[in-house]
Parts: sequence; structure tokens; C-alpha cells
Amino acid sequence: MTEKKRIFSGMQPTGFLTLGNYLGAMRNWVALQDEYDCIYSVVDLHSLTVRNEAKDLRERRMSLLAQYIACGINPEKNILFMQSHVSAHAELCWVLSCFTYMGELSRMTQFKEKASKQEDNINAGLFTYPVLMAADILLYQTDLVPVGDDQKQHLEIARDIAARFNGIYGDVFKVPEPYIPKVGARIMSLQDPTGKMSKSDENKNSYISLLDPPETIVRKFKRAVTDSEAVIRFDAENKPGISNLMSIYSSVTGKTLEQIQNDFEGRGYGDFKIAVGEAVAETLRPIQERYRELMASKDYLLDVMRKGAENASRIAGRTLAKVYRKTGLV
Ligand code: TYM
Repeated sequence: MTEKKRIFSGMQPTGFLTLGNYLGAMRNWVALQDEYDCIYSVVDLHSLTVRNEAKDLRERRMSLLAQYIACGINPEKNILFMQSHVSAHAELCWVLSCFTYMGELSRMTQFKEKASKQEDNINAGLFTYPVLMAADILLYQTDLVPVGDDQKQHLEIARDIAARFNGIYGDVFKVPEPYIPKVGARIMSLQDPTGKMSKSDENKNSYISLLDPPETIVRKFKRAVTDSEAVIRFDAENKPGISNLMSIYSSVTGKTLEQIQNDFEGRGYGDFKIAVGEAVAETLRPIQERYRELMASKDYLLDVMRKGAENASRIAGRTLAKVYRKTGLV
């Protein structure tokens, strides 16, 4: 029997997931869970790079775990855990930071973007964030990392760090491959379709939250910024708003961009926006119901967390022990 290949991925507990998180990453996590041996983490240590109230962070971690399960991740078949419950992440992060160059970290576009948004708190953790992410992935001898397009550069640096370390100490880490969807890898803001949809956006109309009620979803799509050509046609450069709505509609209905163009030929943007809103609301409805049930079962969530931490620690511990042995830290 051949062993299943392994997947690792994670999301930050920054609130409710957006439609971008869902279509860019979560849907693939769910789709790949039978074929792969999957480990999904709530990456809470990463969240300390911005200031949080302790109480809020505690709640958001639990809520994100419930969102993973509500979206369809089966905790019986996969390992779901809190990053901070497995100390090997922080330990390997330190080791790997000694094999990562300042120059390569300073080229990270996400660091530059985030630093420009929090000029009063450009902490060292924000700078070394990709090293912790590399540790997350490499600890589990991961084959595949399903993420959205914005994490591609972080995946590349993780691969570089792994190859560099292996070049010195022999085959310690598996070099992981990214898994980025063809449609939906970069869902754009509904208010400024040249920027990505993000939950940290101040304008709540710019993103769809996993927990938005159906009427809010339809309203946000009705208000989505488009162009004045009034033709439903995919052209990301000249028609970013309509192209974004087409990608979203394609992702949730499974229709190709061509089919959508044909189906809506001669119809106005108003009709199309309502169709997209209703399709998204319909996709999220069962997730919202399941989420509410799960949040009422805190003991169950704690149990999933506990088991996940045990199982993840076992695997991570093996890699960390090998790293310590190879580097002379026995
Ligand atoms: P995070 O929490 O910002 O986002 C979680 C996932 O959602 C994807 N995503 C999007 N996809 C499409 N369109 C969008 N607008 C959009 N916004 C977000 C992200 O690409 C991501 O897959 N650094 C990571 C978390 C992380 C991680 C890891 C991921 C930490 N360690 C190890 C994989 C493996 C992050 O901040 O994701």
C-alpha cells in the first residue's frame, strides 16, 4: 500500500473568514481531504504580529476552528490543531531563522504591504513571519500546501529554506509544492477590484464574511463596483470588477467563464449581481447553520483541539529531533 501524500495549511484567527479565504483556500482543503493525509492549523502565533486583546484572540481561535469544521473539514479524518499548542513550531522557527537571509525576507511583498499599514508597530515578528510559516510546513514533511495566490511568495521562500538546509545537512525536509486554484486564487475587493478582498479592510462592503446573512450578501454584491460598458465579459485588466464577479460565480456554481458569458448575454449588470449574490448566499447557508451548532458545543471543540495537538506534536517532534541531531544539538 502506498502512503497518502501529506497536506499542511493554515489560516490566521483574524475574525470570520472572507469569501476570498473560502474560495482561495478552504474549498481546496475540503476537496483534498480524502485523497491526502491533511493537517490544518489555526496559526495563532502568527496573529501576534498585530496587536490583539487576549480575550478576543482566545475567542477568535475557537471560532476559526469551528469555521474549519463548518466548512466541511472532518476532524475524525484530519488533524486540526492550534499552532501554539505544538511548541516545535516556535523551536524550528528559531533554527530556520539562522538559515534565512535578511535580504530575502526584505523582498517579501506582504511584509512591505503590512509594514506600510502598521507603521507604529513594524515588529521583528512581522519581518520573520515567513520563517515561522516555513517551520509550520516543513515540520510535517509536507508534499502540498493549498493556499491562495497571495501566499505564493511565502511558499517559495519555504522551499528555498528547505533546499538550503538539506544542502548542508542532507535530506531533512521534504520540499513542498504550492497548490493554488485556477479560478478563485485571488478574489478581489467588491469596492476596489484592483485590490484583494481582505477582512482587515475598513469598508465592510468590500468583503463578504462567511457569516454574513443572505440579504447582506445580496446587498453587498448589488453595490459592487463595476464599469460602465454593461457587457458581461471576462477581462481582468480592463474590467476588473465584472471579471471578479465572474470568477466568484464560476467558483460557486462550477460554470465556466464562457458559459457565464453566454448565459448572461444581453442582460444587465443588475441581474448578474443578484445572481452572484444569491449563489454565494446559497453556498454559505449550510456552513452558517453548522457553525452555530458547533459554537454551542464548546466541549466538542476543546476535544478536537486536544486530540489535534497530540497528533500534530508526535509528527512535528520527529522532524525537530532530526533537525537537532543533524545540527549537533543533542
Ligand atoms: P491568511 O490567514 O491571510 O489567509 C488564509 C488563506 O486564504 C487565502 N486568501 C485568499 N485567497 C483568495 N483571494 C483572497 N482575497 C484571499 N485572501 C486570503 C490565503 O492565500 C490563505 O491561503 N500566512 C498565511 C497563514 C499561514 C500558512 C502557514 C498557510 C501560516 N502558516 C503554512 C499555509 C501554510 C496567512 O496569513 O493566510
